[in-house]
Amino acid sequence: MNRIGILTSGGDSPGMNAAIRAVVRGSVYNKMEVYGIDRGYEGLMAGDIRELSVSSVSDIIQRGGTMLRTARSSHFMEPDGFKRAMDMLENFEIQGLVVIGGDGSLNGALKIGKAGVPVVGLPGTIDNDLAYTDFTIGFDTSVNTVLGAIGNIRDTSSSHERSTVIEVMGRNCGDIALYAGLAGGAETVLIPEFEPNINQICRKLIQGKNRGKLHSIIIKAEGVPISSQELADVITERTGLETKVVVLAYIQRGGTPTGRDRVLASRMGYRAVELLRDGVGNRAVGIRGADIFDIDLEEALNTARVYDNSINELGEILSI
Ligand code: F6P
Repeated sequence: MNRIGILTSGGDSPGMNAAIRAVVRGSVYNKMEVYGIDRGYEGLMAGDIRELSVSSVSDIIQRGGTMLRTARSSHFMEPDGFKRAMDMLENFEIQGLVVIGGDGSLNGALKIGKAGVPVVGLPGTIDNDLAYTDFTIGFDTSVNTVLGAIGNIRDTSSSHERSTVIEVMGRNCGDIALYAGLAGGAETVLIPEFEPNINQICRKLIQGKNRGKLHSIIIKAEGVPISSQELADVITERTGLETKVVVLAYIQRGGTPTGRDRVLASRMGYRAVELLRDGVGNRAVGIRGADIFDIDLEEALNTARVYDNSINELGEILSI
């Protein structure tokens, strides 16, 4: 293989740039040309494709977002859009493709792989919801961004003796909430994987106040089927505590990637290059423990998430 393409797709995540840099520089090192495809599958269908050089990925390792930009594309999954995308790969003589993105993006990659162009998927999403890998690129940065916000909110909540519901992203996965809740000392964490017990939450907040706690932090993952405002209203009604709502939204998707995410992205990006260099396609790259590994892409996407409640339990114990 001497010419590969790379695209980022779906929601961006901090560390995508570090992965692009690793793929570009790793390819050049291995004597392959790399073509950057702008705006994910949308750009592929439109032929927004250009050659990337060693210097075109200078000064991006520390930047959030993605220099290739990104998009969500339903058109690509339709027969005419998909055909156009495959034609573009042929027009530009791209023999292998690296796709960085979440669940939907890697499903798109699988479709291309099945049509005969070798693909390697890298897990790029803040949600950490791809079960085949311990961690996804961007998750660690997102958790740290949420921690920064918790710190700020804690200051003002203490001054005013308030409770605050902080809503975090994650789609149907509670990992951002769980990790940020444990590391940020939240009083309670609500996640989609675990039915919330409102009585218990209210009891805990009141007991904390009676012991002299000046504020309480409640982290709610966006996938929990109660709105943050409704939750805050219930807490105020049942406890008498003034409760504010902060929805962190896109703040937690941008920003400088952490060292951990940059290392993860660099290692995963280089593994993708090694696979395509050796003519191996239809793989997903992940990390298990400290080890980077690759697995059949379809198997990766079919891996069921097994929810482990231990972080939630520990958070509850340590925030009594
Ligand atoms: O998948 C990443 C993510 O940020 C989710 O946490 C969130 O639910 C979704 O994307 C938001 O998507 P959009 O950028 O389309 O609003």
